Amino acid sequence: MKTRAAVLWQQPGKWEVDDFDLAGPGTGEVLVEMVATGLCHSDDHIATGDTPLPNLPLCGGHEGSGIVREVGPGVTTLNVGDHVVTSFIPACGKCLWCARGLQNLCDNGALILTGAQFDGGYRLRGRGHDIGTMAMLGTFSEWQVMDESSLIKVRDDVPLGVACLVACGVPTGWGSAVNGAQVSPGDVVIVMGAGGVGMNAVQGASHAGAGHVIVVDPQPFKRQIAGEFGATHTFADIAEATDFARSITNGQGADSAIVTVGVIEGQQIADAFNAIRKAGTVVVTSQGAVAAVGAPINLFEISMYQKRIQGVLYGMTSPRAAVPHLLDMYADGQLKLDELVTKRYAIDDINLAFDDMHNGQVIRGVIDFTTPGAQGGTQ
Ligand SMILES: NC(=O)c1ccc[n+]([C@@H]2O[C@H](COP(=O)([O-])OP(=O)(O)OC[C@H]3O[C@@H](n4cnc5c(N)ncnc54)[C@H](O)[C@@H]3O)[C@@H](O)[C@H]2O)c1
Ligand SMILES: [Zn+2]
Ligand SMILES: [Zn+2]
Repeated sequence: MKTRAAVLWQQPGKWEVDDFDLAGPGTGEVLVEMVATGLCHSDDHIATGDTPLPNLPLCGGHEGSGIVREVGPGVTTLNVGDHVVTSFIPACGKCLWCARGLQNLCDNGALILTGAQFDGGYRLRGRGHDIGTMAMLGTFSEWQVMDESSLIKVRDDVPLGVACLVACGVPTGWGSAVNGAQVSPGDVVIVMGAGGVGMNAVQGASHAGAGHVIVVDPQPFKRQIAGEFGATHTFADIAEATDFARSITNGQGADSAIVTVGVIEGQQIADAFNAIRKAGTVVVTSQGAVAAVGAPINLFEISMYQKRIQGVLYGMTSPRAAVPHLLDMYADGQLKLDELVTKRYAIDDINLAFDDMHNGQVIRGVIDFTTPGAQGGTQ
């Protein structure tokens, strides 16, 4: 069959939207009609080359939702008609990490940048090339073939146009606060970077009972909207936020500082480290250039002040547990999803959508596959 998809042919590069050939599902795979996909900064790291890829071309996207339309041989967990949300780690459920309840760290994570399916093959093809898929997903496509381990069946009554957000940005940000920073009632929490991930750290921290949720973001739009998600104070830079955190903690500093900026540099980890109190926690969720090394933190302070630096992947939890749980919270009116979507786009306008990300004009931009030409809708 044919599918319209956004593909990266070189790094750095732009997404090129075209019609491609898609083969049917192989063993353990299903055909998904995509409904929506959020644009995460990790997709942009692929386009800029911050995340170098061993194989190109590649269809991007990993924050998707859709409906199963065909089931391949050997599939046991999904049926035609099921509503699904993607998992960017195709967790096996059997390795040491999965057994420990950390499916986000499944050994299959080692495969997700190769572009290939589990059997080493490709389902998408065009311009004389096999085309890989990001994270074994490639959600920037109207139709896609995915392994059943990459898909989480979700309740039918949550619109798929917002459910896509719980594929990455929401659990990642929420878990950065709730699991990574282990925010407790009354805590003073700094969130550096209030985009699609960081805004969910804000709502996670607020939900966990933080007394102060201090947002740092240079973009006025992000600061303006952060209050809706639970921010109590906003600043344009970390120095002002640090001063403020100290002013309300008798000079000690924040209990935690969560780094969710778009492109991380070592200095930002150091800034977060300087903003926290003794025995406080820095959470590092952001990515930058894969080869980047080092953060200028004081080596005496890390031990003598007993400070903790905690990396967080996929919210530090199992997506197969977190995704349905977060959707239940949304259905119960406890989690904001609709408010995260600033703008919707047609797949053909994907580069415009990334421009809006770069210019700080959207919390999340979402590609809407159901309405060709969609702009600014609110489905
Ligand atoms: N660890 C994980 O599992 C995981 C998952 C998803 C995304 N990520 C990473 O998280 C990061 C955030 O992703 P996103 O989709 O929210 O990006 P985004 O572009 O939507 O948001 C980034 C925000 O950071 C702000 N920012 C930039 N420089 C800043 C600075 N110096 N101080 C404070 N704020 C600053 C921007 O204005 C923007 O609001 C990216 O690096 C992404 O790759 C990690
Ligand atoms: Zn992501
Ligand atoms: Zn595993």
